[in-house]
Amino acid sequence: MNPKYEKAKQILNKYNQQHVLKFYDNLDNSKKEELLNQIFNIDFEQIKTLYENINKIEHKQNEISPIEYTDKSKMTQREKENYLEKGSNIIKQNKYAVVTMAGGQGTRLGHSGPKGTFMLGINPDKSLFEIFCDKLKEIKNKYNVVVPWYLMTSRENNEETVAFFEKNNYFNYPKEAVKFFIQDEIPMIDMQGKVIFTENGLIKQAANGHGGVFESMFKSGVVDDIKKKNIEWIFIGPVDNPLVQMTDELMLGLAIEKNAMAVGKSIVKLNPEEKVGVFCKKNNNPSVVEYTEITKEMSEMRDDNGELLYGESHINCNLFNIKAIEKIGNEKLPYHTAFKKATYINENGEIVKSQEPNCYKFETFIFDSFEKLKNMQILRGVREEEFAPVKNKEGLDSPETARKLYKAYYNC
Ligand code: UTP
Repeated sequence: MNPKYEKAKQILNKYNQQHVLKFYDNLDNSKKEELLNQIFNIDFEQIKTLYENINKIEHKQNEISPIEYTDKSKMTQREKENYLEKGSNIIKQNKYAVVTMAGGQGTRLGHSGPKGTFMLGINPDKSLFEIFCDKLKEIKNKYNVVVPWYLMTSRENNEETVAFFEKNNYFNYPKEAVKFFIQDEIPMIDMQGKVIFTENGLIKQAANGHGGVFESMFKSGVVDDIKKKNIEWIFIGPVDNPLVQMTDELMLGLAIEKNAMAVGKSIVKLNPEEKVGVFCKKNNNPSVVEYTEITKEMSEMRDDNGELLYGESHINCNLFNIKAIEKIGNEKLPYHTAFKKATYINENGEIVKSQEPNCYKFETFIFDSFEKLKNMQILRGVREEEFAPVKNKEGLDSPETARKLYKAYYNC
């Protein structure tokens, strides 16, 4: 018998996942090899622990307190000039790069390709990727500097993403400045803790959340590339907000002025009920508290000016010093569990489709890295200038609302 197969069998026996090889004989040789490699690369111990912990309530009591922030709109002229000068110098010295996190599945949007290929419906029409690229081209014209652009994709959408850039000639941005890297995946499991399958007989895995960006930057050589280029500051932002400021000199200047390792961009929470995570201090370290974690009483607390004490929404626009990325990349971020609706093949080889959530997906979140950073600054931006999320097919945070916000901001 094939020794690789025997070794895989042992691993599966240990973790009670014997069903994984049930249909092995039906696979062609290359799929057989792929399946065995999947088995060797998956951390089944981790999957077992994650499953066992799904229904455990964490008793760790975190001490939550408000976090200080700098309000962009309240900066004095002198502060602005100082930050602008410091920030623009970094760009001019080629010490700045951008990472766009484009590895998400975009299930809520329901677009058939990678989210960045979504056409926003502006005139002339552009994809989200092109909209971002335009911003980098603007910087190129302004400073005569080509900002390196790294795009995090997933195994699922990488090929299509690269093909989209190729087809569009990298939107006339220097091709050598654009690099793609694939984020890690983690298996999805059913309600009994069994790994599930895709229709081609392989283990169904999903991207491991936007917190996976740090580890993937290391593994893929992006960190090495950044260091080789002497880049010091890296903006890491989402693909699903056409108002993301890819380059914010004030943010960079603030980081330098305050000797910070990172800066998180916030916008004011609309009302205490809005379902967003907000910046805070957790056990005295910078963090984000999710709306599910915060009590009603805390979410309604206001300061002397009548502003919400926990009102700085995290919009996933994050600036990191390379030292911060090196620090975070060496530590593991915790996994969070999401109960999701998925179509898959079960252990009996039957196709399972459901209108209700039917399996577990595990994800890490970028903001879980913040507490590892002692000096992190929060910069409050203006909602209309920074935030037009494209999350849902329709209604709130949909292409329609994002398009309106984009058009209003760019007056187009
Ligand atoms: P979301 O958390 O909104 O997830 O991503 P999503 O996968 O795009 O959409 P749903 O939840 O399936 O509908 C916020 C940002 O983080 C990126 C997304 O591409 C988006 O830019 N992301 C998310 C990743 O790059 N990888 C992930 O594993 C998850």
